[in-house]
Amino acid sequence: MKRLNNCLENKKYTSIPIWFMRQAGRYLPEFRKIRKKNPNFIKLCLTPELVEEISLQPLKRFDLDAIILFSDILIVPYGLGQKVLFKKNLGPILENLSLDSIIELNKSDFINRINPVYKSLNLLKNSIYYKDKSLIGFAGAPWTLLLYMINKQSPKSDFDKKLIFKDKHLLKSLISKLEEFICLHIDKQIEAGANVIQLFDSWAGLLPKEKLFDYCYNPTLKIVNYVKKKRTPIICFPRGIKKEDYVDFCSLVKPSAINIDYEVSPEWIINKVNNLPIQGGLDPKILLTNKENVKEKVDYYLNVFLGYPYIFNLGHGVLPNTDPSMIEFVVKIIREKNV
Ligand code: CP3
Repeated sequence: MKRLNNCLENKKYTSIPIWFMRQAGRYLPEFRKIRKKNPNFIKLCLTPELVEEISLQPLKRFDLDAIILFSDILIVPYGLGQKVLFKKNLGPILENLSLDSIIELNKSDFINRINPVYKSLNLLKNSIYYKDKSLIGFAGAPWTLLLYMINKQSPKSDFDKKLIFKDKHLLKSLISKLEEFICLHIDKQIEAGANVIQLFDSWAGLLPKEKLFDYCYNPTLKIVNYVKKKRTPIICFPRGIKKEDYVDFCSLVKPSAINIDYEVSPEWIINKVNNLPIQGGLDPKILLTNKENVKEKVDYYLNVFLGYPYIFNLGHGVLPNTDPSMIEFVVKIIREKNV
């Protein structure tokens, strides 16, 4: 049984689906081993056999309900022709953006550049896990991608608002191009086997309130409507917006589920989103503390969401210094409560 699809499609409380954002990644020694031998991160994301292996690494260790494709949200800017480099401890660095060449780019150029991503999903669809697990494809939302593409590096806690919002023509053209190519990227992932989509708007929280509609809600709505037509559930994560804005987001965008970050009170939001499935919430830093504390905090989420269509996950990705045994511990707590 695919617990995650079941929860998203039937919107009922059954046994809790579990997966972790960034479950395939740097906290796993078996990932680090492969990464060491593959210094070019984008190239690694475009090597199907390795992507398959990395995507399945967490499934081999833990009783999770979903495989998430090993890739990155910045594969879309790369597909659009903007080079992306991942430097140690610096995060991603993007080269200068050329709007003209992006405007000229056609769909087949894009697909040709990142076709191995879809081949990887095909391999995962044929894996032994596929029968019982959901296969999650994903993309960055237009605002977060636009910000990386113009800012050319992670904005961390802030960015030069004047620089980003200066050129209205650039913003408008880039947003609409991104909407189009994000839909294409999702479409290809679904065609290759993804049966759940997660949309990461990791920097939504940096938008001033008066810009949320134009840059977050509205572009996301277009993508959500597109994915719904493909009969595939889509989970949205507008990370960092205020709790009241999460409520507006849900009523306007109507995703299949909403991922909350750890600033959002679960007790508060549970009564505000019309029984929409809720995912995540637990602060990933909790997993760096001790088991007693972890159990207390996990139990808190489980108790609040008892009887509600809830998907266990974190309020952001697993941190690189997480001990893998903590993930195992969390899964055990949930499974023991909830057979
Ligand atoms: O397991 C999974 O979740 C699948 C793989 C995945 C990665 N990135 C692999 C990765 C996913 C879903 C992402 C999404 C992603 N990438 C987001 C949205 C989620 C979030 O965390 O907010 C964002 C903002 C990015 C952009 C990005 N990619 C950054 C800022 C960095 C560097 C720092 C970091 O967070 O790791 C990356 C690199 C990256 N993406 C790594 C991995 C495993 C580390 C690469 C390395 O080994 O250096």
